[in-house]
Amino acid sequence: MPKRETSLTYAEHLQLERLLSCQVRQSEKHGRPAHDEMLFIVVHQAYELWFKQILFELERVQATFSGPEVDDRSLGKVVQGLGRVVEIQKLLLQQLDVLETMTPLDFLDFRDLLFPASGFQSVQFRLLETCLGLRRADRLSLDERPYDARLPGADRQRLRDAEGRPSLSDQIEGWLERTPFVSVAGYDFREVYRQAVTEMLESEAALVGSNRALGDTEKAAEIDALKAARARFESIFDEERHRALRAQGQWHLSWQALQAALFINLYRDEPALQLPFALLSRLMDIDETMTSWRYRHALLVQRMIGRKVGTGGSSGHDYLRRTAEQHRVFADLFALSTFFIPRSQLPALPEELRQAMGYRYSGSGA
Ligand code: HEM
Repeated sequence: MPKRETSLTYAEHLQLERLLSCQVRQSEKHGRPAHDEMLFIVVHQAYELWFKQILFELERVQATFSGPEVDDRSLGKVVQGLGRVVEIQKLLLQQLDVLETMTPLDFLDFRDLLFPASGFQSVQFRLLETCLGLRRADRLSLDERPYDARLPGADRQRLRDAEGRPSLSDQIEGWLERTPFVSVAGYDFREVYRQAVTEMLESEAALVGSNRALGDTEKAAEIDALKAARARFESIFDEERHRALRAQGQWHLSWQALQAALFINLYRDEPALQLPFALLSRLMDIDETMTSWRYRHALLVQRMIGRKVGTGGSSGHDYLRRTAEQHRVFADLFALSTFFIPRSQLPALPEELRQAMGYRYSGSGA
């Protein structure tokens, strides 16, 4: 490779002069320099840089899913990209430890100068939530105003644009709906699985009935629990039931997508399903790490300001704790575990289907 004539320096490449002149303490400007404000600024800026990287990764992942079909060969890159996002999220979680070396009194030295600025106005955080699939209608309302009301017009427009595009959750739903193997000639996963579950629950009910160690009340309670389990299973077997629960917000994913996700989880050892399973696992990692961050941030806020209202005007800890519970994007994938049955009771796949999902190497015959 020919040598490039360049005088590029480390500082120029990274634009360090600009970057390192962006830490301006309000406390210093107001003539009462607070040491810990520097940490506060650096930690938040580091967050924003990592948000930028996460959005950059998601952009590539989403591009892969944007066409009518997803090239299987690109799934490895997708799983790798999402894995990177998860590792960054873990870093973001740890950064709160650094910030917590600032005590509440240290924070009070400059907190009054921050009003009404708040992390609530981080447009990159909102973009991240939106790209993943958090919908406007599912967001907690802070004070009856839209969640983006406090943002400048240009940021609001960026969010509206993102909301107008399919989210990763939408794209994954479409991809799951197209999963082959779930229903092929002579094999319908739903029917076969429904049969296996019915047999399993019936044999459990028979065992309860013949168990002499249980009294009548205990038996009735066990039978009720099995009936409840059966009713739960109906929500994935029965399309109408699923539709009703989805309308109540209990499921996000479509009926077909859920069944494909269940199939992938149950038969994940089949070679053709290993990458799809890894992909679903990374999505759960993203959701779990994001939720951990939300809880951890809520606790940090409680530690720093107790029950005071936030600089952005929210109820602070209480509002943030509720977002951890409600702002979940891939909660359906977690709920699916309700419908797993032990491997020993799992119906075997038809041999022809197994062959189709395997890797077969045959000798060259040379
Ligand atoms: C001393 C440290 C911190 C305190 C006291 C604090 C406080 C708060 C409070 C009270 C809110 C609720 C909105 C409001 O009323 O202002 C909030 C929201 C938020 N904060 Fe923090 N925060 C701190 C550190 C951080 C850090 C390091 C980040 C990283 C970027 C961050 C990002 C956010 C985000 C994204 C929200 C919006 C969350 C949502 O609406 O789901 N905060 N913060």
